[in-house]
Amino acid sequence: MQNEKNIIGFPLPRIDGPLKVTGTAPYAAEYDEPGMLVGHAFYATIASGRITSIDTSAAENFPGVVKVYTHQNRPATASSDDAWKDEVALPGHPFRPLENDRILYDGQPIALVIAESFEAARDAADLIRVDYEAEEPHTDIEVEQAKSYPPPVPRKEAFLPSDPRGDADGAYAAAPHKISAEYVQAGEHHNPMELFGTTVIRAEDGSLTVYDKTQGSQNSQGYVCGIFGLKPETVRVINAYVGGAFGSGLRPKHQLFFAVMASLDLKRSVKVEMSRREMFYLTWRPPTVQRMLVAADANGRLMSIRHHAVQTTSLYEDYQENVVNWSGLAYKCDNVTLSYELAKMTVSTPGDMRAPGAATGFLALESAIDELSYEVGMDPLEFRIANFVDYDQNDDLQLTSKALDLCYRQGAERFGWSKRSPLPASMRDGQDLVGWGVATGVWEATLSPAEAKVRLFPDGSITVAAAASDIGTGTYTILAQIAAQGLGQTADRVSVLIGDSSLAKTAVEGGSWTAASSGSAVQAGCFEIRKTLLSLAQKLDSSPLAGASVEDLAIRDNRLVLDRNDQVGLSIADILGSQGMSSVEGHGKVAPDEEQAKKFVSYTHSAIFTEVKIDAELGVPRVTRVVIAVAAGTIINPKTARSQVLGGVVMGLGMALHEESMIDHRSGRIMNHNLAEYHVPAHADVQDIEVIFVEEEDDKASPIGVKGLGEIGIVAVGAAVANAIYHATGTRHRHFPITIDKIM
Ligand code: MOS
Repeated sequence: MQNEKNIIGFPLPRIDGPLKVTGTAPYAAEYDEPGMLVGHAFYATIASGRITSIDTSAAENFPGVVKVYTHQNRPATASSDDAWKDEVALPGHPFRPLENDRILYDGQPIALVIAESFEAARDAADLIRVDYEAEEPHTDIEVEQAKSYPPPVPRKEAFLPSDPRGDADGAYAAAPHKISAEYVQAGEHHNPMELFGTTVIRAEDGSLTVYDKTQGSQNSQGYVCGIFGLKPETVRVINAYVGGAFGSGLRPKHQLFFAVMASLDLKRSVKVEMSRREMFYLTWRPPTVQRMLVAADANGRLMSIRHHAVQTTSLYEDYQENVVNWSGLAYKCDNVTLSYELAKMTVSTPGDMRAPGAATGFLALESAIDELSYEVGMDPLEFRIANFVDYDQNDDLQLTSKALDLCYRQGAERFGWSKRSPLPASMRDGQDLVGWGVATGVWEATLSPAEAKVRLFPDGSITVAAAASDIGTGTYTILAQIAAQGLGQTADRVSVLIGDSSLAKTAVEGGSWTAASSGSAVQAGCFEIRKTLLSLAQKLDSSPLAGASVEDLAIRDNRLVLDRNDQVGLSIADILGSQGMSSVEGHGKVAPDEEQAKKFVSYTHSAIFTEVKIDAELGVPRVTRVVIAVAAGTIINPKTARSQVLGGVVMGLGMALHEESMIDHRSGRIMNHNLAEYHVPAHADVQDIEVIFVEEEDDKASPIGVKGLGEIGIVAVGAAVANAIYHATGTRHRHFPITIDKIM
């Protein structure tokens, strides 16, 4: 019999967990080979300007150094921008390491030292001498927003602000209750535990095996093939284990370029790894300024929403997020105007960081909605419920499901919201001011094209193979559960092979779409197998399954049987044996349903309840309780799902209270490029967090019913904390992170 404990819905511990916590799972920079060369990048010490001279002679003469690359001797690469564009590229000119003498941002790599050892490469890099012609950096969003512009080329149509509806200005002017406020959010740096690293192993025939820290092996493969004119058959990229990424690994990083460039040029195996400091010079969540004007009638009905956001981008690309469209679909409102602009700064191109756009947009929206609820004189939760909407008003589309009402109800119940005293600064616990806040979160539930190959053997063992990644999210585990369910086995009989560009086509792991997409592909592969087995079985003389259709079938105890009567059937071994086959493969494929998309759209929803206690004398805020209720369709594995949401909430606490990229605007340089000075929530900052998954069935969001939840955990947590701080103190904070100095 199938073991219930291994299939969909069971909290199976991560099958890669023991490998990761014992150091057995190798990361990209942990592969080795005798005689491998090691590269170390050298970075500009100005943020803006040009290199007037660069002297690498001392570095070249340093013992163990093989070669030093700069813009003056970089090997030739593809010239067109298109050849440099990866799967997640942006409008603009993709950054090309060592392209020329221009310095576009702090931390730009301007040389690469290749040596026999890491130590030699690093020491030699210190001997590089550079003269610069510095230009004035521009790094303050609150200043640069004066020169903002609408993105000339949209990154995605869906990111363009939705068309205005109704008359937001007129309704605002006429409304009895209104809020006009500006919210500023600091830049944030992704800090996954695993550093960016690439190990290139060169074979005798010149083909390359590239171990890369990335969220998509095929994306890295396509990138280096495009730049260096390589055939995909000669480049295999592996990312079998990834030590976190949060979006930082969506686009290839310069260490990949460097390692492949040097390997091709020197015809050697090469490794390049970044330091923690270098991790701060990469893609980051852009600083953003948002202006919200919201208004309600006397009964608390939303009359008007205007949301304008200005977001940071680099000099060379137009990074874009969907920041403002949430404001047109989170609540019922007939008068809405949304706008979104960019401001160019001398910084590296920002990138997607967990719930890009939504994490930012909901800080402002859910703060403003909260402010308006007090202005109207309604309970903040009641106000949100009163403005519930059951369709996507931006695009006039139906929702495939929306159990947000259950999130509000179950979350409030669990949190004890009814015991809240409505007035600000009216709750105390000894020395502490106590505040309770609430917020609504939304994230897109999407399906990306995905394939998976599933193979079943006569003894019941199964392999699942796809390029898909597991960035710490649980992909290995849930794919095993889905294959086990589909083929009547236990998850321990499933070997999952992922993180390899040579396997079935899969997009980068991002956008919270992997469980929905790769999960559905594996499910489809299992269905293919049952179909094939049935057709083979029906070829047999007097087959007991002669009249059966695939929908009637199940696999139990390694037998293909009638679901309603498992006495009727044949063993897998007999079916395969009759055809001389040693296994059977199912190739599952899924893609978004374009017809359905004309009518329906899918979102994952959440309601977040927070308790903050603030020391009345010191102003130290502590988030003592969080209850987050999430509606995300089918939950394949409640344990890995909960971990995703917990991690998201913790990052949300960082956004609310700690994380802040500090740039010295005179020099344009990042000052806190280390984990001592760039604060993230530590253990003492993370107290009670409870995750509730509400019941939600959705047969349209994805074939397997999953809506995805890798990102929803962070959305609106910052606002929920700010709202609790307001409730505790009576002071509204609109600059994130809300550090102690602001509360004092
Ligand atoms: Mo996510 S920010 O798409 O990895």
